[in-house]
Amino acid sequence: MKLDILLGLQWGDEGKGKVVDVLTQHYDVIARFQGGPNAGHTLEFNSMKHVLHIIPSGIFHSDKINIIGNGVVIDPIAFQKEIEDLENMGFKPTQNLFISNKAHLILPTHRWIDAMWEEQKEKENEKIGSTLKGIGPAYTDKIARTGFRICDITTRYFYKKFKSIYQHHTDLLIRNSFKPKEDITTVITEWFLSLQTILRFKLIDNEYEMNNYLKEGKKVLAEGAQGTLLDIDFGSYPFVTSSNTVAAGACTGLGVAPAHTGQVIGIVKAYCTRVGAGPFPTELLDETGNLLRKQGHEFGSTTGRPRRCGWLDLVALKYSIMINGVTEIVLTKADVMDNFDMIKVCTHYKVGETIINHFPTELNEDIVPVYKDFKGWKQNLSDIKDYEKLPPPFKEYVAFIERETEIPIRIISTGPDRNQTIIKT
Ligand code: GDP
Ligand code: IMO
Ligand code: MG
Repeated sequence: MKLDILLGLQWGDEGKGKVVDVLTQHYDVIARFQGGPNAGHTLEFNSMKHVLHIIPSGIFHSDKINIIGNGVVIDPIAFQKEIEDLENMGFKPTQNLFISNKAHLILPTHRWIDAMWEEQKEKENEKIGSTLKGIGPAYTDKIARTGFRICDITTRYFYKKFKSIYQHHTDLLIRNSFKPKEDITTVITEWFLSLQTILRFKLIDNEYEMNNYLKEGKKVLAEGAQGTLLDIDFGSYPFVTSSNTVAAGACTGLGVAPAHTGQVIGIVKAYCTRVGAGPFPTELLDETGNLLRKQGHEFGSTTGRPRRCGWLDLVALKYSIMINGVTEIVLTKADVMDNFDMIKVCTHYKVGETIINHFPTELNEDIVPVYKDFKGWKQNLSDIKDYEKLPPPFKEYVAFIERETEIPIRIISTGPDRNQTIIKT
């Protein structure tokens, strides 16, 4: 068996949570491989809405194993809240969620350093628009080899290690005259107490577990967080997150060799959104952008911030498909444009008179998107269950994306609910 990988091909919030939930029935194991509580993955079923941040989106299926891999950064306080929410709903996550010994911990000081770094950027256009969950500083410590791992919690040297990291962080904060808005003693106590919640879970060497599952013939799906254009190497640097969100990240974030990877399922929103700062060539700062935000309820699942909205960008999409080796696409949220007379898709960029087909390393204001217009389908997609019954203008739009990307669209999501899903094939 090979590891299938599901990930976002834009700037995040493509609908990964919903699609993982739909696909979980075909898998035995769902594993998160990077990111942390910056993610917000929304699932809707039985008229209920759930937002997951650190926990994989297969958790609502009690017969499926969920894994938080070594590539993830965990804030125990946020994790405890998520677990409490699930337990209050009657779920028993301790039975089907395992945590990697090698995953790194986010300390409260990581969150404060995150906020300090943002404050220190003097110009508004330099700010990343971080979720302020401590992601950048936690991964910085990981790479600097000063990080705190799950396996450290139960060791003799735990407290000594904590003191040394904490001291290092507070020195930095004091030197920069940064004062956290929270009460330090209360939060640190809460952090220590929340470690107990982590210890209620089976802690694993996920690289062995993952490879054994595959050997045993179990079907495993890696669930990406954020999106390809937020990848630390290939995204619109520095306006990115601090992990490898691309398919290769699933190998390093779970301990599975590239030769053991299978399908790469790319989630694509029928338009584009971005939350936080950074370049966005097809952004609409007009009424159409506002309409996409309103109809698509485009407000961050983690921070509640309004998401910036714009047209689908094929230059960026083809780039993402190339980097990830995408084998199939899931198209989400086209229903948001049900009432649009006209829909645009960016096919190229132009700089002056020069047409550009590649995603530039530096995206700047000189880039002008070139659009192709599509007639709106003016029909409610959410009620349709059968691909054949979809309106012809919509099918034309789907066929165009398939032709341009040379990748089949296998699933079309037509609403937030589990049941609002059309299998094309
Ligand atoms: P993720 O981070 O990729 O999991 O995406 P988010 O959950 O942050 O954002 C996607 C939002 O769109 C959520 O509110 C979903 O409930 C919703 N959603 C997902 N798929 C669809 C769809 O096909 N149509 C509509 N209208 N909403 C969707
Ligand atoms: P999901 O998994 C959308 C964005 C932030 C910011 C940048 C860096 O729900 O798709 P960070 O806190 O990671 O240092 O922020 O990345 N960002 C996301 N945008 N969806 C996400 O996750 C995101 N996670 C981080 O807004 O611009
Ligand atoms: Mg999200």
